[in-house]
Amino acid sequence: MTPSLHVPRPEDATRIAALLTPDPLAGALAGLFLAAPRRTGKTTFLRSDLIPHLEGRGFAVVYADLWSDRAADPAELIIARIKAALERHDGLISRLRRKSPVNRVGALGFSVSLKESGDWSGTIADALEDLIEATGKDLVVIIDEAQQAVETDAGLNAMFALKAARDAINQAPGDRHLYLLMTGSHRDKLSTLVQNRQAPFFGAGVRPFPPLGAAYVSAMAARVNDALAETAQLAPADLEAAFDTVGRRPELLTDCLRDLIFAPEGAGPAALRRIAAERKAQAEIDTLSEIAAMTPLQQGILRLMAQKGPGFQPFAEETREALKAAHRGQKPAVATIQTALNALRERGFVWRREHGRYILDNADIALALARSDTG
Ligand SMILES: Nc1ncnc2c1ncn2[C@@H]1O[C@H](COP(=O)(O)OP(=O)(O)OP(=O)(O)O)[C@@H](O)[C@H]1O
Ligand SMILES: [Mg+2]
Repeated sequence: MTPSLHVPRPEDATRIAALLTPDPLAGALAGLFLAAPRRTGKTTFLRSDLIPHLEGRGFAVVYADLWSDRAADPAELIIARIKAALERHDGLISRLRRKSPVNRVGALGFSVSLKESGDWSGTIADALEDLIEATGKDLVVIIDEAQQAVETDAGLNAMFALKAARDAINQAPGDRHLYLLMTGSHRDKLSTLVQNRQAPFFGAGVRPFPPLGAAYVSAMAARVNDALAETAQLAPADLEAAFDTVGRRPELLTDCLRDLIFAPEGAGPAALRRIAAERKAQAEIDTLSEIAAMTPLQQGILRLMAQKGPGFQPFAEETREALKAAHRGQKPAVATIQTALNALRERGFVWRREHGRYILDNADIALALARSDTG
């Protein structure tokens, strides 16, 4: 089995592309926000399936992955991709008569020197408008791991700029449109972009990103059966169950299938069930042992966060009271809680959604804690 096996997802691409229409009922003109857990195939789908499909259907596409460089400001990553699109369409842009040749490089502006068009400068909205006009196509801006944008002021401003561009372009006369598609690995994280009145996309909803489905499972079944004895063949349903057990993560399923070949009881459906269950349990054990090595207060905070979800109020009286048991019987000071939260953030267990609001980084942490409490 080569790790590079890619199972194409034409149906999922078609379904998502169908949402990119100005039709107010069927379409997502306001923006599409799709969330799915880590390592479930989001980026691969965007790059290998959706973008080629959209380009084939006559859309222009700008794609930015805000995790592609963790050291860079999210705004810089977005602008870099927009610049690259301007460069790609330089020839067409050189034929435009730009409405605003004046230098408007303010806080949200940038410039780029294009070979044919000369020096280009303007805002994010100017650039997107020029791209649409030059290509004569509807434009889809895809931001992968969009929640990262809220980590910096510039990133948040870039999101507001995208929203402003969307409104300006979609409300202008003419029939060219700008669509925004944002993905994230945590529903609660992505919802920071849509949830409150100060959020750039207030009012939009977060939907589940389509997980890998039956086509992927049957392709994997066909592949693994080639390597298995006649008597050990697997049905797609066996693989489907195992895939679900490991959270629909291709890498974990591939791990299980590799182990299957060496199963002491012989490869087959029962062995696969055992291996997948063990793989899942192992992931939980790893998480819990990392937690067990933390300070009692940090552990107490994680457990409380798992119970409270997004309603967790780190510095409330009630929280300090609840954390007594984890802090030598004394209510921890606000500064002490803050220090513990910072440490948890650094270790990737906690995510700060906005000032004073924290959530667990991913759902697996809450699940592992809940199971360890009952089990
Ligand atoms: N259609 C597919 N066919 C086969 N393997 C796939 C497919 N989609 C994803 N994978 C595999 O799943 C793994 C995770 O994929 P990917 O990086 O796209 O997920 P992600 O959800 O973007 O992850 P992250 O949360 O790290 O951003 C990769 O090893 C990738 O090769
Ligand atoms: Mg990704």
